Amino acid sequence: MMIWSAIGCQLRHPTGAFGWTVGHFMRFLNARSNALAIAALALQGDEDILELGCGPGHAIRLMAAQAPRSVIHAIDQSATMLAQSRSRNWEAIQSGCVHLYQGRFEELPLRSHSIDKILAVNVAYFWRDSQRVLREARRVLRPGGTFSVYVTDASTMRRWKFADAKTHRLFDPDGLVGMLQHGGFDHDQVTVTNIEVLPGIAGLIATVGNRCGGIPPLAPSNVTAALDSGPKWPRLPRLRSSCGSLPTQVRIPCFDASDAISLA
Ligand SMILES: C[S@@+](CC[C@H](N)C(=O)[O-])C[C@H]1O[C@@H](n2cnc3c(N)ncnc32)[C@H](O)[C@@H]1O
Repeated sequence: MMIWSAIGCQLRHPTGAFGWTVGHFMRFLNARSNALAIAALALQGDEDILELGCGPGHAIRLMAAQAPRSVIHAIDQSATMLAQSRSRNWEAIQSGCVHLYQGRFEELPLRSHSIDKILAVNVAYFWRDSQRVLREARRVLRPGGTFSVYVTDASTMRRWKFADAKTHRLFDPDGLVGMLQHGGFDHDQVTVTNIEVLPGIAGLIATVGNRCGGIPPLAPSNVTAALDSGPKWPRLPRLRSSCGSLPTQVRIPCFDASDAISLA
């Protein structure tokens, strides 16, 4: 019992040798969810990107390869994970394309309206104060920006003993939309897509787009393409929208500088 709870704590904040090992497992086990959530961002090649909770740095590497003219900012509270991210992305860091920050999602070290795309994979479980995290995400996101959030569905997570209520908050599609709404995004700005990440593992990708600067490409078609072109697992899943037959497109309210919050 103790070991499951220890794993849950390490996933929330990896530390030391145990955290280092957990990070290496994450790099493999979360590769597909990261690839699909990145596909939902429809990277354009020369954007400012933010990753919330970069863990071992696998998604940074994928995004730097897909969008080599972009600048990627990644924040994590864990020094152990930042060390793995650093060694995995050393060249991109040296060339100024990747910037790592040790810090917390609740207080992002970035200017308002400075980011085009935000990626958050396997981190929403740990947003104890989700309103504060999402307010920061809205603050840094430019009009026209896109935010992609991946979580494993509660139906799968309930079977995993490490995903204890003490460490993990679980989401079904409605819960995920509800959290984003509570954090200031309108319901009609959010698209939630159900995916089968691996056989028996149900995942959710919420894509939040900002209509202020033009409607971004609908994420599900990008995700479908990624599912079809990605590594071939025994069964390739097909997409279905959790919001009925058609995905719902979503708008992020426009902000001006007065919306920026000070968390000093
Ligand atoms: C389960 S890992 C996911 C890592 C990576 N995104 C992936 O999919 O493999 C969660 C990461 O989020 C970080 N994290 C959790 N809560 C955080 C917070 N409030 N501020 C900054 N980092 C946080 C942890 O340190 C950890 O590296």
